[in-house]
Amino acid sequence: MRKKRFWNTLSIELLIAITISFSVALLITIFISQWINRYYLVNPNQIGMLKYNLGVLLVFTVIALSFIISFLFLIRKKIKYLKHIIDRVQYIANGKLGSTVVVKGNDELSQLSHNINMMSRELERKFEHERQIEHSKNELITNISHDLRSPLTSILGYLDLLRKKEYKNEEELVNYMERVYSKSLKLKTLIDELFEYTKLTSPDVQLNLTNVLLNDLLEQMTGEYIPIFEKEELSIQKTIPDEDLFITMDVEKMVRVYDNLLTNAKNYSLKPSVIKINLSSDGDKAFFSISNRVEGPPIKEMNKLFERFYRGDQARLEGGGSGLGLAISKRIVELHGGALNVDYKEGWLTFSIEHIVLKGSGLQE
Ligand SMILES: Nc1ncnc2c1ncn2[C@@H]1O[C@H](COP(=O)(O)OP(=O)(O)OP(=O)(O)O)[C@@H](O)[C@H]1O
Ligand SMILES: [Mg+2]
Repeated sequence: MRKKRFWNTLSIELLIAITISFSVALLITIFISQWINRYYLVNPNQIGMLKYNLGVLLVFTVIALSFIISFLFLIRKKIKYLKHIIDRVQYIANGKLGSTVVVKGNDELSQLSHNINMMSRELERKFEHERQIEHSKNELITNISHDLRSPLTSILGYLDLLRKKEYKNEEELVNYMERVYSKSLKLKTLIDELFEYTKLTSPDVQLNLTNVLLNDLLEQMTGEYIPIFEKEELSIQKTIPDEDLFITMDVEKMVRVYDNLLTNAKNYSLKPSVIKINLSSDGDKAFFSISNRVEGPPIKEMNKLFERFYRGDQARLEGGGSGLGLAISKRIVELHGGALNVDYKEGWLTFSIEHIVLKGSGLQE
C-alpha cells in the first residue's frame, strides 16, 4: 500500500478548494460592496427600499455563484476522475474481470482505484482457476466414462453369451469365464486407481509421515524386482550408495511411486536390455533415477506422460494400465515437496525423483 501524506488526503484537498473558493467569493464581495458604496455616496437619495433589497439579493447571488464556480473549477479533475472510476467499476461489474482503473495522484481516490484493480485481478484469477477446475472435472468424467465402458461392455458381452448358453463346449465356457474375470479385474484396478487419484488430489489429503532410509528401501524393492525383470530379459544395473539417506515420507504412497516406475520400466522397455537405477545425494537433496531403453521419445511433449489417462500405443494395444500411474506418482512426489521429471536422451528414457534429505540424517530413527 502506498503511503499518503497528510495534505494529500481527499478531505484536506477539499478543504483547500473550499478555502480558495471562499477567498474568491470574499474578494468579489469586497469589490461589489465598494462599488455599491461609491454609487450610494454619489447618489445617496436615489436608493429606495426595493432597490436596496434587490442589491442585497444581487450581491448574495454573485457571492454564491462565484463560490460554486471556483469550487467546481478547483475540483473538476477529481470529479472527472471519480466518473472514470465509476465507469470502470461498471465495466468490471459487467463481467470484464481483470480490467483496471487508472491510478492517478496519491489520495483516497487513488487508493480506491488501486484496491479496485487488486480486486479485479484477484477475481479474474479465481474465476480462471474455477474454470480450469470445471474443465478438468469434465475431462476427467469423460475419460472415466470411456475407460470404464470398454471393459464393462466386454463383460456384459461375455455374460450375455454365457446366459444364453451360446458356447460350444466346456472349454469355451471356461475361456469366456476367464475373460469375464480378467476384464472384471481390470475394471477393479481402474476404479481403485481412480479412487486413489481423486483422494490424492483432494485438498485435505493427509500424509502418514515417517523417517525412512531410502537406500535400504530401494535395495529391498529392486531386489524384489530382479526375478520379474529377468523373466522379461531385462537386467538391473544399480548404483545405490551405502551412505544412510533418511527421507521423511509416507512409505506406502512412495512405494507406490517406485513400484509404478519399476513396472513401467518392465512393461515399456525395449527387450532384451538393461534397466539403470541410480541413487545419489547432494547437500539436502537425494536423487533417484530409473532409465530404460526405448525406440524413440514416447511423445514430443514429455510432460504429457504425467497427464491422467495418457497411455502410449504399447499400453493401449496390450490392454495395459489405465494411464493414471504417472499422474498419481507425480502428485505423491509433489505432496512430499519433491519433483518427478522425465527426460529422453539417445534411446534412454529416464524418470527422476528429487527428495529432501533430513538434516543430521544418520541419527534419525
Ligand atoms: N519407462 C517407460 N518407458 C517408456 N514409456 C513409458 C515409461 N513409463 C511410462 N511410459 C509411457 O507413459 C504412459 C503412461 O504411464 P502411466 O504409468 O501413467 O500409465 P500406465 O502404465 O499406462 O497405466 P497404470 O500405471 O495406471 O497402470 C504409458 O502408457 C507409456 O506409454
Ligand atoms: Mg504405469
